[in-house]
Amino acid sequence: METGATSTGICLIAGCGYVGTRLARRLGGPVLALVRTAASAEALCRAGIPAQAVDLGGGDLPVPGDLGAVVYLAPPGGEGGFDDRLRAFLAALGGVRPRMFLYASTTGVYGDAGGAEVDEATPPTPGNDRARQRLDAERQAQAWCAARGVRWVVFRVAAIYGPHRLPLERLRRGEPVLRPEDTGPGHRIHVDDLVAACTAALTGTAEGIFNLMDGFPWSVAEFTERLAAIAGLPVPRRIGWAEAERVLSPGLLAFLRDRRRVRSHRLAELGISRRPPDTGIRDSLREMGLSSAGR
Ligand SMILES: NC(=O)c1ccc[n+]([C@@H]2O[C@H](COP(=O)([O-])OP(=O)(O)OC[C@H]3O[C@@H](n4cnc5c(N)ncnc54)[C@H](OP(=O)(O)O)[C@@H]3O)[C@@H](O)[C@H]2O)c1
Repeated sequence: METGATSTGICLIAGCGYVGTRLARRLGGPVLALVRTAASAEALCRAGIPAQAVDLGGGDLPVPGDLGAVVYLAPPGGEGGFDDRLRAFLAALGGVRPRMFLYASTTGVYGDAGGAEVDEATPPTPGNDRARQRLDAERQAQAWCAARGVRWVVFRVAAIYGPHRLPLERLRRGEPVLRPEDTGPGHRIHVDDLVAACTAALTGTAEGIFNLMDGFPWSVAEFTERLAAIAGLPVPRRIGWAEAERVLSPGLLAFLRDRRRVRSHRLAELGISRRPPDTGIRDSLREMGLSSAGR
């Protein structure tokens, strides 16, 4: 359990869902978790994590008097390419000056690079409103921190997987996968490695933008097939684009269309280790009480 992040004030976790809950557990407190629904707040409180239900974009926030750090993990909300939810959240923070601000963005801000390499020095070229909202949010967070002299970190996070975040249902349904030659490299990170990165950012001195992925650019097909093999489920059928457009969800198709090879020239600064997909899959299945029945 980490204590450094919490020794000087409360860590406000805005948008305390899958990642935030595991972060709160790892930090051990004091934290205040903000979520949208009463059901999520009650579940967090039952798990021993102080939480309140509030609309982050609603203009009225419970801001702790001894605020130490802000970790913003909520998705963007707004029209067009603007994250109005974060704008309202920052305004509602008022005159507070936490030690640091961490914003979780996505690698989606790089858009479709046609398969080329991107790293933190690559200018983002978001290709849709959702990715533009992310970039807008990054810039808002940076500007807010710069105006107050607050240390800031932006994580551009690849696809998050972990316990209860694996495409097991899709495998059980027999959903096919887009063949690797029709898509770009895939990038992902195990949730607990992301949590370790958040903890390192909170307790250390890192500042700026970091890409976060495990360094194994397996395509979605390769990862899903490996999951099937390890979990002892039927290996999915490979299909081309024409069939994929008929049978895969629009969200997955949009994700598959962006081709880029994400690298980081900064990750070493955080001093974290990232587990390879095989290990991450096995760890996830074990936590879910499922055995790695296959290879
Ligand atoms: N999934 C991925 O592969 C991926 C990849 C890169 C980055 N990210 C981003 O990383 C961040 C953390 O991901 P996650 O998986 O932990 O997300 P998550 O499980 O969906 O949690 C999001 C949390 O935000 C809260 N929230 C949403 N809108 C809110 C509002 N208006 N006011 C107050 N709370 C609000 C939700 O509250 P309720 O529980 O009450 O709904 C939930 O607790 C998110 O921004 C996500 O988009 C995700």
